[in-house]
Amino acid sequence: MTKKYLLTIFGCQMNLADGQRVKGILESSGYSETDDQDEADLILFLTCCVREHAEERLFGRVASLKNLKERKPDLIIGLGGCLVQEHRTKLFTEFPFVDILFGPNDIEDIPGIISELPHSKKNTGNFKTTGNFLGEHPDGVVLHRSFSAFVNIIRGCTNNCTYCIVPKVRGPEVSRPTEEIISFVKGLVQKGVTEITLLGQNVIAYGRDIGIREGFAHLVEKLNDIEDLKWIRFLTSHPRDFSKETIERLSHLEKVCEAFHLPVQAGSNRVLKAMNRGYTRENYLELVDTVRRFFPDSTLTTDVICGFPSETEDEFDQTLELIRQVRFDSAFMYFYSPRSGTPAENMTGNLPEDVRKERLTRLIDLQNRISMEISASCKGKTFEVLVEGDSRQAKGQLIGKCRGGRSIDFDGPSDLIGSYVKVRVDRSRLWTLSGSVIS
Ligand code: SAM
Ligand code: SF4
Ligand code: F3S
Repeated sequence: MTKKYLLTIFGCQMNLADGQRVKGILESSGYSETDDQDEADLILFLTCCVREHAEERLFGRVASLKNLKERKPDLIIGLGGCLVQEHRTKLFTEFPFVDILFGPNDIEDIPGIISELPHSKKNTGNFKTTGNFLGEHPDGVVLHRSFSAFVNIIRGCTNNCTYCIVPKVRGPEVSRPTEEIISFVKGLVQKGVTEITLLGQNVIAYGRDIGIREGFAHLVEKLNDIEDLKWIRFLTSHPRDFSKETIERLSHLEKVCEAFHLPVQAGSNRVLKAMNRGYTRENYLELVDTVRRFFPDSTLTTDVICGFPSETEDEFDQTLELIRQVRFDSAFMYFYSPRSGTPAENMTGNLPEDVRKERLTRLIDLQNRISMEISASCKGKTFEVLVEGDSRQAKGQLIGKCRGGRSIDFDGPSDLIGSYVKVRVDRSRLWTLSGSVIS
């Protein structure tokens, strides 16, 4: 009988991409996937530690496995990913029923880590501090329903934003060789993939560590030439690095979708400086103008943090004002969460949680109003949509995404899944739209 694994993924797209790599490795070691924990021989988690809330969710889930392990002593429970890199020393003590621990840069070593278990009873990866694109299972593919894939082009981050734990747990930027990406994407397209999303904490830095100037534009130009590939998306773009030259070059490529995720984080120059973001409010607004000039109908999304240490009410107002000015289609909004070992942890002026939360409520109220208004303005418009699957909202409905990245649901037969159709919007919600297929 084949052994079964259950993999649960927390965190961002990097973990999703790593999860696919884990699946490939386990499946070639003879495991098959299950979603039933009672049936699993191996239960693995890929974890996240970007905010305290992410950690709490994970700890709750792992604690709930104690009884299962008591009933099934041969069950292997493993924790991997960012949180493990950060908290490795205390996890075996806190969760004595966990058998293996590995960091985000140890994924290729999982079979070895598991195979040593019978001798050692507990085993860990080496917690390597730098990522790589080596190994038989090339990094960063999520064969997200067979026609759409995530492709990791750069691992790690070298930016050192003062609030952020990611560079500490994932290591510095490491670009994947261009030729390998191209042949990898060609292989995906041969298997039926028509949409790719290029991934990295800062895709615009692609090539910087291997000495290629404007490496990202150069890479996307090459990908744009691949026949039968239809849409190219990418995230995340660091506003400091996104040059006018890159935007202009991308605007000549018909496969590049008009969707830009440009995390602003804050609207006050003092706070941006304290965050070490490397741009001013004025630089950011100029970038938005440039993107909108070259991509007139683009969707703009962002990330915002409120309640950074010593942020005043007036500085928070500057964030609200920037949001009113830009009118993002959508935003991921967070209140600041202190992370140990980051420079911001030792800054003075930490704000009480109730102040941070209250600011977040105001931020979300404002952004939701804007998102609703922009969504409503989509009514009557027609979008080309890649049909992704059955909608979870209503039985018999399908859901897909337009080039701008908005989800649209509509009535239609399942054999449309994977194809591109034209949909006219007749209802709007916050982000998702509803419509009818017109061709
Ligand atoms: N690399 C991306 C960038 O900088 O644009 C984002 C990566 S991070 C995984 C996703 C978002 O989490 C960040 O853009 C930021 O808004 C948020 N974040 C990171 N650290 C945080 C912290 N300590 N507290 C609250 N939010 C945080
Ligand atoms: Fe974190 Fe900043 Fe890197 Fe994004 S760019 S992962 S926020 S350090
Ligand atoms: Fe992503 Fe969380 Fe790691 S956001 S990079 S999984 S800390």
